[in-house]
Amino acid sequence: MKHFLNLIDLSAEELNHLLTESARLKEAHARRIPSHSLSGRVVALIFEKPSLRTRVSFESGIAQLGGTSLYLPGNEVGLGWRESLSDFARTINQYVDALVLRVYRHETVAGLAAASTIPIINGLSDRSHPCQGVADVLTVRELFGTETGRTVAFVGDGNNVARSMAVGCGKLGVRFVLACPVGYGFDDQFKADYRSKVSQDVPKEVNDPLAAVKDADVIYTDVWTSMGQEAEREERLKRFAPFQVNAQLLSKAPPHCKVLHCLPAHRGEEITDEVVDGPASAVFQQAGNRLHTQKAVLEWLLK
Ligand code: CP
Ligand code: NVA
Repeated sequence: MKHFLNLIDLSAEELNHLLTESARLKEAHARRIPSHSLSGRVVALIFEKPSLRTRVSFESGIAQLGGTSLYLPGNEVGLGWRESLSDFARTINQYVDALVLRVYRHETVAGLAAASTIPIINGLSDRSHPCQGVADVLTVRELFGTETGRTVAFVGDGNNVARSMAVGCGKLGVRFVLACPVGYGFDDQFKADYRSKVSQDVPKEVNDPLAAVKDADVIYTDVWTSMGQEAEREERLKRFAPFQVNAQLLSKAPPHCKVLHCLPAHRGEEITDEVVDGPASAVFQQAGNRLHTQKAVLEWLLK
């Protein structure tokens, strides 16, 4: 059974296929060409955490392809605590055609996938955010014509979003550098996975944001405190303060450099208004791309 848990499990060809299909679906959407490619299909979204982009882009995406969706708060269906993951999978597999999960622990999506006869899509876990990664690389491709040979400087936490973008970049020949405080870089498990499944070198990590953005075509950032890490917020605010993406940092990057953020942004923390709303920002183009990449993922898994 084909799942979509981590970009690291996709070949470069598969990732390229998703990007090409996303661009095709974006064009078809702009031209209002109707599609019934997933007519009669039902996708359930089971979310343990809040969401705007992931939830709404999946729900709109499946509707636009002729299917339908169900939104099920994780607590309500008892994911992981009311019955075993295996019993959960064996039951819901008979009602719907695919599941999108947003979970605290990556083991929940992995455990469900192991027991599931329908595709499981990771809509964000503590380890990765592959749906975001596809939209991010698509945005880089749109901005520069091709992503190959470009440099992405991720300034912030070595978190789920950073890991997925690093892998997407690695698979497609994009240089990726992470600028983060000491102790907030990529963990050993990620580096080992990366070494075994991506042909490029493990992404470079630096502790100086200026050094990272000097040659960057793209500066990417995300919140300093991810969902589930709220207890660390005060400490993180202190540690990450020198890593804010602001006009001064942007001025150290090449003039053509663009800025990405997966959103939601904590304006005034990891990024300033002047940057999010300024001419270098491609943040809302990136958010819009979630719709098209979600549809490509659904078709790839279900058609
Ligand atoms: N970027 C992203 O996944 O946004 P949501 O948390 O709103 O889904
Ligand atoms: N790293 C963030 C991303 C939100 C889309 C989080 O996990 O909360």
